[in-house]
Amino acid sequence: MGHSSSHVDRMASPVSVIVVGAGCRGENYSMFASIHPQRMKVVAVADPRKFARTKLQKQHKIADENVFEDWHRVIERDKFADAVCVCTPDRLHKEPAVAFAKKGYHVLLEKPMATTAEDCREIVEACTQSGVILSVGHVLRYDPLIRMIKELIDAGTIGDVMHIQHLEPVGYYHFAHSFVRGNWRNEAESSFALLAKSCHDIDLIHHWAGARRCVKVSSFGSLSHFQKQDKPTGAADRCLDCSIERECPYSACRIYLDRVKKGHTGWPVSVICPNSLPDLETVTEALRTGPYGRCVYECDNDVCSNQVVNMEFEGGLTAAFTMVAFTEEICNRRTTIYGSKGELSCDGREIRVFDFLTQRATKHTAPSDAPKHFGMTGHGGADYHLMDAFISAVANNDPSLIRSGPEETLHSHLLVFDAERSRLESRVVHCGDKEHS
Ligand SMILES: NC(=O)c1ccc[n+]([C@@H]2O[C@H](COP(=O)([O-])OP(=O)(O)OC[C@H]3O[C@@H](n4cnc5c(N)ncnc54)[C@H](O)[C@@H]3O)[C@@H](O)[C@H]2O)c1
Repeated sequence: MGHSSSHVDRMASPVSVIVVGAGCRGENYSMFASIHPQRMKVVAVADPRKFARTKLQKQHKIADENVFEDWHRVIERDKFADAVCVCTPDRLHKEPAVAFAKKGYHVLLEKPMATTAEDCREIVEACTQSGVILSVGHVLRYDPLIRMIKELIDAGTIGDVMHIQHLEPVGYYHFAHSFVRGNWRNEAESSFALLAKSCHDIDLIHHWAGARRCVKVSSFGSLSHFQKQDKPTGAADRCLDCSIERECPYSACRIYLDRVKKGHTGWPVSVICPNSLPDLETVTEALRTGPYGRCVYECDNDVCSNQVVNMEFEGGLTAAFTMVAFTEEICNRRTTIYGSKGELSCDGREIRVFDFLTQRATKHTAPSDAPKHFGMTGHGGADYHLMDAFISAVANNDPSLIRSGPEETLHSHLLVFDAERSRLESRVVHCGDKEHS
């Protein structure tokens, strides 16, 4: 405890928070209460999984009467907390977000806001009408290095921004885990890959473009691997039964069993044992019977493995975005921003600015002071900073602390829907020319 944070809260008691969805994200955000018990308290949890809700109950000493299987039961009660963290799966965001906002709870809503443009609008409307704070889980907006990119642009360091090139390398085994075998593999069950994975990135590009509106967007992409026709001859339907699994980079034995044998039980291993702690026995059982033991070429996945998006903003600023599964790096974005006076590049570790006039390069770093020992290291400490801002915004009733607030986040989500429409309809979409579908 006693970790320094950038905000001072004016509330006498900690901000009380209900966690809806006690999975990876719900547990991670809740960790803030363990770090700063004087600033945040988790007072209730709702999750249909007994293992998940009991774990959170124990971690935060939640009273029995405040542990729920279903968030609808929470809503039936009179308002009894300041805020809610909605950390349910993608398709279960809108309903609780709207219901809690209407009851007067401040809302931290995981990204994507919702899976349709209409639902995103409805959430924003509900929060605005109720006068509650909305923060969307666009954690990268809180990453100190990424914040510095915007500060350097705004300070005129590279002149006028002309072009933005941004890459999201998903990571080969991360993609196999989440988007081939796991929770985000199938659009009908979760959402399309650009929304699920890259709404962060389109949001950043939109943010870096500043006040300039995106006018046109085009996109191409597909599921280019991880289908039945790509299955090697002789491969089995499950990795545990496969005689050639050692030759496969996506082998579940390699991704999960090899890790647990080395004592690694965090992500992604923890995800595959939803009802118990992971150990060699439970992981082996999960691979024998569960979705994560399937051959990557025998899954019911349909989301894109690679997609590009081209954007034209007002004033001729262009942007090119790439999302690709087949990478060594795991989500460590690479960005280059070309301006009239210089070039700024960021490899996720440092920013380099080359000045055309002086022909000199300067380097910038922005280490996060998030407390690593508490495990809330998600996204290079950005999860911690998002929570820090949300709790302070609620405690001080100051929405200006939120960097991922309703209006801007809605606009960047609409851009994602437009980009996907372009891909599906094979045409350039003029943003806002007709109702977003
Ligand atoms: N901000 C980020 O960078 C980031 C990263 C990963 C995931 N996410 C998003 O966060 C959300 C949660 O992802 P996760 O990785 O924690 O998934 P998860 O599967 O670990 O957690 C989701 C939890 O919701 C619970 N749940 C399901 N239905 C529910 C209901 N009706 N009421 C209450 N709980 C319910 C599940 O049992 C599960 O425990 C997703 O929308 C995901 O896209 C955001």
